[in-house]
Amino acid sequence: MPADFDTIVNLSKTRGIVFPSSDIYGGLRSAYDYGPLGANLLRNVKDQWWRSMVQMRGDIVGLDSAILQRREVWQASGHEEVFSDPMVECSECNSRLRLDKLEDPDQCSVCGKRGTLGAPKEFNLMLRTHLGPIETDENMVYLRPETAQGIFINYENVRRSQRLKLPFGIAQVGKSFRNEITPGQFVFRTREFEQMEMEFFCRPEDAAEWFDYWVKARHQWYLDLGMTSENLQIRTHADDELSHYSAGTVDVEYKFPWGWDELEGIANRSDFDLKQHAEHSDEDLRYLDAETNERFFPHVIEPAAGATRTAFAFLIDAYHKEEVNGEERVVLRLDKRLAPYQMAVLPLSKKEDLVGGTQQVADLLRPLYQLEVDVTQSIGKRYRRQDEIGTPYCITYDFDSLDDNAVTVRDRDTMLQDRVSVDRLVDYFAERFAPTA
Ligand code: GAP
Repeated sequence: MPADFDTIVNLSKTRGIVFPSSDIYGGLRSAYDYGPLGANLLRNVKDQWWRSMVQMRGDIVGLDSAILQRREVWQASGHEEVFSDPMVECSECNSRLRLDKLEDPDQCSVCGKRGTLGAPKEFNLMLRTHLGPIETDENMVYLRPETAQGIFINYENVRRSQRLKLPFGIAQVGKSFRNEITPGQFVFRTREFEQMEMEFFCRPEDAAEWFDYWVKARHQWYLDLGMTSENLQIRTHADDELSHYSAGTVDVEYKFPWGWDELEGIANRSDFDLKQHAEHSDEDLRYLDAETNERFFPHVIEPAAGATRTAFAFLIDAYHKEEVNGEERVVLRLDKRLAPYQMAVLPLSKKEDLVGGTQQVADLLRPLYQLEVDVTQSIGKRYRRQDEIGTPYCITYDFDSLDDNAVTVRDRDTMLQDRVSVDRLVDYFAERFAPTA
């Protein structure tokens, strides 16, 4: 049975995946805190993205640019002028709403009244702060609303220092901030979130081919990490939906509990950003083809995903409720690489020599895997708890272990058990966690 929205929100809080930010003061809908399990899950999602987008490729390098950038960056990129959503205000309940997200543009979605929505205003989504002790217009800066611009303004630094030739990509993962008019649906739309973006620079005539390539590759990434194919779709943006920089965008969408919604956008940004920054900075950002001596602005294909949103989608997709021997079992069928803990080590009982043996097994595996030692409650309850947080393997140290120096390894999905000698454990798991391409 798939998860409903409230079940996932409850599981997140009770199991330490996601907490409302500032929870003890009543929460803040703009941001969320990732608990011990959520922090591992989010890190694993970002690591898998980095592995596939940087580590496994010879043509993409990484970057970690600052969140604070000069205001000129956002003037050149067009964000200061046009990065806005249309907002309407209800004269009955004073709610401020995004016009383009209303089912009926003449009806307030909060109080339900008709004819109470005022004229739409464009609301700029960038959050601001001031640098230094005095708040003036001159020291106002924006918190970045996308990681992408950090890549464009470093294009020449990276290209030159790494001696890169077209085509090549620059990838970055990090926080972005948007003053969303209506944050909501838990961590789906927040005002502070994390993105995983890559700008792929190529010759203008190759852009269409690379665009198709990246749409396929990014769709496949979710499938390779176990996302259900029926819950994923590709949707092409209509012309009136396109961002100001885009010559074409395709979204990878996930079937969330409220319907299809965006996970990632793959955009053809053409030469828009490099041209804008060249003009505003007076730097020559054209590429010199050493063979033909030709100078031109590369075109850019951008796969841009949300890390926090993607982790949320993996969580929803993994949730399963099933019946086992007449009892309900909740299991998160997360891919082994994404699970918050790859394994749990459990003594059969709290007896001292079993706990001691358990610790020795944990010490053997801890340098290689994220694991948890769980001592309390009956072994059945501990298995269920590990199923519910998606731990792929439970290792049980029992009374026989004291004599045969072997442990029982239980598989989360099949619930089958193997008896494995402690001396073989490292190899046993190396086979099961062997990296694939
Ligand atoms: N550089 C292009 C860009 O930022 P975007 O479609 O606005 O494109 C990319 O954002 C991804 O970032 C989205 O597909 C989504 O996963 C994530 N994202 C955007 N706004 C978000 C928000 N307010 N909360 C959580 N994730 C968000």
